[in-house]
Amino acid sequence: MVYLDNAATTPVHPTVVQVIQDALINDFGNPSSTYRIGKSVKHALIQARKQLAELLNVSETDVYFTSGATEANNWAIIAQANKSREFGEGHHIVTTAIEHPSVTNVTKYLETQGFDVTYIQPNEEGEITVQQFLEATTDKTIGWIAMAVNNEVGSILPVQELGEAAYEQKLWFHVDTVQALGHLELDYQALKCTSFVGSAHKFNGPKGIGFLVYRTYQEHNHLEPLLHGGGQEGKMRSGTENVPYILGMVKALELAKKDITSNFEKFEELQAYLLTSLDSIGISYEINGDQKNRVPYINNLWFNGNIASQMLIKMDLDGVYISAGSACSAGSLTESEILKAYYPNQSERWSQSLRISFGYQTTKADIDQFIHTLEKITKGKIDLWHSNK
Ligand SMILES: Cc1ncc(COP(=O)(O)O)c(C=O)c1O
Repeated sequence: MVYLDNAATTPVHPTVVQVIQDALINDFGNPSSTYRIGKSVKHALIQARKQLAELLNVSETDVYFTSGATEANNWAIIAQANKSREFGEGHHIVTTAIEHPSVTNVTKYLETQGFDVTYIQPNEEGEITVQQFLEATTDKTIGWIAMAVNNEVGSILPVQELGEAAYEQKLWFHVDTVQALGHLELDYQALKCTSFVGSAHKFNGPKGIGFLVYRTYQEHNHLEPLLHGGGQEGKMRSGTENVPYILGMVKALELAKKDITSNFEKFEELQAYLLTSLDSIGISYEINGDQKNRVPYINNLWFNGNIASQMLIKMDLDGVYISAGSACSAGSLTESEILKAYYPNQSERWSQSLRISFGYQTTKADIDQFIHTLEKITKGKIDLWHSNK
């Protein structure tokens, strides 16, 4: 099997599996119970929050465990939007046209609730700039939203600079850091955002667990409870905590951070290998997204004349797992909304592009196998509908 879809999800690291298994077997108590086996789980939970805060260099009181980034994005954006409007600050939000659906569908929902939203399109170079955000900002603007790294094309957005500018404008600023966490060095302490989110399954942790970091930047802008019940997560998100997965997530982030530099260098090498291999066998492609500011671990390539959905079928038959866009919005193979935003006048590009994304376990042999299958497809050596492997 060749797995090159790590932006969709990553395999759980064996050490993380061990941590989760140990917790499931040995620490099954309820952290809210007052007897010893409950208290020891409570202690593990407190330590995990502390360690996560240290890894992110944020305050532990600002960390909330969630079921993933979709929940955290929903929670933070809706809370900040409602609070700002309640306090008469306005009803306008500026975000980008390339956000993940767990942000875009929240802002679309807010539009139905009377908010106005401006969606910044990438410029000619594929960049999203601070200037664009400033130009879209009016006296009715309450907040900005941007992702750190785009999940489909790997573009890096200037979240550090956006944070500075948002702070000066006295706006809240929400950042979706899902595709950066554990892979791209970011100073979360210096990042002047009011909230950011993470999801464990993007950095070799389990699915269904993530977190929100929420910093109350003005007295009235505090977080509202998401779920009412037993009062867990500081009365903000009731429900018995998933301690085994929380411990697994924190271990996964610890491991990812430890190897962040060496993995990044490896991804640069793999990216160069991918592109030079394509060049050397004469498969033509164009890189989608921001040409200058992009991460090496997410590569989105346009193979002009080849339908992505058909290529994916053959890849699947050959045991090569990649995607044509965002798996989180998928299951379906519709044209990519992200590529539409980047290339509004090149409709063929929307359905002829593939995303190849690396993980710590990716090797050059994986890339060789991908290219071998791609060569058969693009050079017409195989009938797409009848496997000849
Ligand atoms: C950029 C980005 N944000 C948010 C999410 C949603 O994360 P989760 O699967 O934890 O809900 C994803 C998942 O693909 C993503 O890539």
